[in-house]
Amino acid sequence: MKEHQLQHLHHDQPGRKALRSRITLLWGILALAVWTIVCFYRPNPKVGDFHWGPCDSSPVAACGSITVPKDYFNKDAGVATIALARYKATKCPRKGTVFLNPGGPGGSGVEFLIAAAGSLAKIIGDDWDLIGFDPRGIGKTLPAVRCFPDPIEERLFFANTVLEHGITVPSVANITSENMRHELVLQYRQFLAMVQAQGQLCAKNMGEELRYMGTATVVRDIDFMSKVFDGKDSPLNFWGASYGSAIGAYLVNMFPNRVGHVLIDGILDPVMWSSEPSYYWATNVLTSMEKTYEMFLKDCAQAGPKTCPLAESLNEPWQNIERRLEAFFDELAISPLPIPFASRPGFLTSGAARGLMLINLASPRSWPQGAIDFAQAMNGNGTALFNALVPDYRASNAGANDLSRLAVSCLDNVRDDYPTAEEPADVGLKMLHEGSIHFGLSLGVSEPDGGCQYWPVHGAERFAGPWNATLRTPMLIISNTHDPITPISSGVRVNSLMPNSSILVIQDGPGHCSLAMPSLCTVKLALEYFADEMPTNGTICPVEAPTFPAEEDLKMFSASDRDLLQAAQEVGKYVGRRL
Ligand SMILES: *[C@@H]1O[C@H](CO)[C@@H](O)[C@H](O)[C@H]1NC(C)=O
Ligand SMILES: *[C@@H]1O[C@H](CO)[C@@H](O)[C@H](O)[C@H]1NC(C)=O
Ligand SMILES: *[C@@H]1O[C@H](CO)[C@@H](O)[C@H](O)[C@H]1NC(C)=O
Ligand SMILES: *[C@@H]1O[C@H](CO)[C@@H](O)[C@H](O)[C@H]1NC(C)=O
Ligand SMILES: *[C@@H]1O[C@H](CO)[C@@H](O)[C@H](O)[C@H]1NC(C)=O
Repeated sequence: MKEHQLQHLHHDQPGRKALRSRITLLWGILALAVWTIVCFYRPNPKVGDFHWGPCDSSPVAACGSITVPKDYFNKDAGVATIALARYKATKCPRKGTVFLNPGGPGGSGVEFLIAAAGSLAKIIGDDWDLIGFDPRGIGKTLPAVRCFPDPIEERLFFANTVLEHGITVPSVANITSENMRHELVLQYRQFLAMVQAQGQLCAKNMGEELRYMGTATVVRDIDFMSKVFDGKDSPLNFWGASYGSAIGAYLVNMFPNRVGHVLIDGILDPVMWSSEPSYYWATNVLTSMEKTYEMFLKDCAQAGPKTCPLAESLNEPWQNIERRLEAFFDELAISPLPIPFASRPGFLTSGAARGLMLINLASPRSWPQGAIDFAQAMNGNGTALFNALVPDYRASNAGANDLSRLAVSCLDNVRDDYPTAEEPADVGLKMLHEGSIHFGLSLGVSEPDGGCQYWPVHGAERFAGPWNATLRTPMLIISNTHDPITPISSGVRVNSLMPNSSILVIQDGPGHCSLAMPSLCTVKLALEYFADEMPTNGTICPVEAPTFPAEEDLKMFSASDRDLLQAAQEVGKYVGRRL
């Protein structure tokens, strides 16, 4: 049959022409198919595969991703894709890669790098490649945490609840009263119902995918990426602030022999983070809170009403300002302030107002603006304050983080397994006594931890020390004397656990992390550290700028110092925000 056909065609000239054109057409289709496959087909990514391309929003950084094992102890679990952004060393010889984390858990290292690439290179050194990565569950890294079906449902779930408004303390003047305890118990009942609902949502929509988001897994990713990008025997370098300091502490203690330069700033106590239930944290975390609040009030009184409208007269006793604020918080506890015009209509509670003061204390460079916002609210206009509490739900990234913070902290933590709302209420009263009388229950507004007893999974791995590794190059620890939420006591603790393998630099100033209010002295020591010049342990660095400046005066600095300080201020804008 075939032969016959061939012969037939062979002798039939017009038929041959048709065949030729048909063959040409077939070749064309084949070529198109090959081209399509080459251009659009992506084979299943293999562990270790990575790619780089331009970033949408930065002309200087490269964006990309790397494929890593989803579970380092079980190959069958498949892969995860870590989102990356890189700023290459501009100076030769290149020394290696420094991996970055700006805080959280929930902060995107990709966004951080893109936002501050050039400034980061100035304060770390332009002979390092800098890589920001989105840790497990966060940002563009896959799988991402998506417990809520969509961001609007997430917003609706939180709106006007105790999770958004924080815990209202009726009055700190009466913390021993039985009524006080009763009020707290009622609020914790709502809290428990909500975190239980969250846990059930996460179980349904994420399930086992949540097992790989703990800090121990993140640290294995850093080790893995460092081997791919710098080579298997190159030292591993890291820069982390706020929660990033916990990543640093895990890193040096899980991989002491791999570690090169590690700088941590704004220290979260890793012992507490990994081994105490979160509803006990405030007594540890808030140990510098009251003295930071006092500094705010004193600086405000000294600045006077022109730059700090919370003051009624220049140099009035700071206790007067404290008393007026306290009266405002107590009034809100009885009657919340209506907010008709803001990112959305709502009302301001006492719990929210105290939480917002805590957030304000973390960022001294915005103390003047914070004072204006509070003064306006005390005069009946809470719009600005409320906008700081409730982000615009129409913004493109609203709800982008879902419950990624809990996805990390619940795997790192021991389980809080308190059975009743009475337990956290009693611990809460203890926080007011022993942690911070004004803000002992106000941490939840910026750091919504807790409810891990309802979290649906345990992590693939949990690391809980020991924390006393011996390193070739000591880790640099930076702590502020007046950091309201990562107190110097935590820096001293990490330093004392590794007395010969860490160096503590103390910045004598306010704010959460040294870059919240940069000191030229600290910035230079950090830069020298990455250039292998070790600072002296215990060095104390002053902060040059006042907290309530009429205008910032950088004239006293040389051009290069000014440049360095401005770079540090720029990076500071993106560090440890909303934790
Ligand atoms: C404290 O409690 C007492 C008695 O319950 C009450 O009379 C007083 O007004 C309370 N003080 C404040 C500031 O709420
Ligand atoms: C209230 O404060 C907001 C934000 O500061 C401002 O835009 C608005 O004009 C103020 N409203 C009134 C009635 O003063
Ligand atoms: C480190 O700490 C662990 C546990 O606390 C302890 O058993 C070990 O002896 C310590 N190692 C060093 C070198 O101090
Ligand atoms: C630290 O170094 C000192 C002096 O070399 C030594 O006596 C001490 O035992 C070391 N401490 C630790 C925890 O390694
Ligand atoms: C390092 O400095 C800190 C802060 O002054 C101090 O507490 C610690 O004991 C010092 N460590 C060593 C090994 O001297």
